[in-house]
Amino acid sequence: MFKVNDNYLKLPGSYLFSTIGKKVKAYKEANPDKEVISLGIGDVTQPLAPAIIDSLHKAVDEMAVKETFKGYAPDLGYEFLRSAIAKNDYAARGADIAIDEIFVSDGAKCDSGNIQEIFSVDNKIAVCDPVYPVYVDTNVMAGRTGTYDPNTELWSDVIYMPCKADNNFAPEIPKETPDIIYLCFPNNPTGATIKKDQLQEWVDYANKVGAVIIYDAAYEAYISEDDVPHTIYECDGAKTCAIELKSFSKNAGFTGTRLGYAVVPKDLKASDGTSLNALWARRHGTKFNGAPYIIQRAGEAVYSEEGKKQTAEQIAYYMNNAKIIKEGLAEAGFTVSGGVNAPYIWLKTIEGMSSWDFFDYLLENANIVGTPGSGFGPSGEGYFRLTAFGTYENTLEAVKRIKAL
Ligand code: MLT
Repeated sequence: MFKVNDNYLKLPGSYLFSTIGKKVKAYKEANPDKEVISLGIGDVTQPLAPAIIDSLHKAVDEMAVKETFKGYAPDLGYEFLRSAIAKNDYAARGADIAIDEIFVSDGAKCDSGNIQEIFSVDNKIAVCDPVYPVYVDTNVMAGRTGTYDPNTELWSDVIYMPCKADNNFAPEIPKETPDIIYLCFPNNPTGATIKKDQLQEWVDYANKVGAVIIYDAAYEAYISEDDVPHTIYECDGAKTCAIELKSFSKNAGFTGTRLGYAVVPKDLKASDGTSLNALWARRHGTKFNGAPYIIQRAGEAVYSEEGKKQTAEQIAYYMNNAKIIKEGLAEAGFTVSGGVNAPYIWLKTIEGMSSWDFFDYLLENANIVGTPGSGFGPSGEGYFRLTAFGTYENTLEAVKRIKAL
């Protein structure tokens, strides 16, 4: 009789956003007259920009013609997209990333979950707490996290780096040495960022101890302050210790169309000299048949002059929402952070209320959906995340409702 991978059985509960989805569905079914506003999952609400739509249309038309029809995409991505990425996301920031260090994928969620596959199961991971749940869950599935303590909600073999108000939500170098360090800046869920000299310290540390940094830069487009790094490769020595993950979801609204990429530099070698670039290429070759041609053409359009202008307008739209939420909540007496270089606002719940209690309270009394901070890890307890990805009108209405509580 077959057996399952019993690491999966160790996962506590369901995935955070599935749990929220179920609760909201039940609430809506029981209260069909209520206008529920979702500021929970970080999903965009603005349609794809016109330059992207034009490019999609053209690419679809090409698929209808024998001479221009495309079958399987190259598994590592079309060169037109990889060169646009290299030029705009790296060369323009002074980072020298070659096309064959860029691996196009169907999104950063898959990359951030899959990348752990190329590391030994004995490697020890370090994560921020709170953290995007995919990093820990996928390491649980791989059998890398030890045992789970339901009281502390911590895994025995994971190094946690608490990010709280007293350290400005920035992780500190852990006492125990990790092999794999997950960092995400601008941060999901806290919306915090670190400055370039702080990121340089992580790069120097990783190079010193022989650790690899998995740097999730999905929210990079939301950076508004000058001294915040847009890519880890702005730091000296990052190419020998860091993998970077990027998404087209948040900067250009591809949550439904799916596109992302990973940068795995050729200088990045494991302790035995194995090239991670070669390993990731091998993995892509076996497990991935490339992101769709039409979507990669849409991705290329993000880097066109029109595409840059139009997506910048969308980012400004969301960041205006962030300002409205942050200021409105502060006026209502909440302690708030984030929302300056990120589309997430991180707030303290009402005194004495747990994150999930506050979730229920907000849903029932203001018909607003947010994300409980404790869903991202125990240091998120007593916190709550709201996203700026709603519409302007819903954002105004949500703030009005919260102020009226
Ligand atoms: C979030 O809400 O944390 C994100 O939208 C989830 C994701 O990007 O997968």
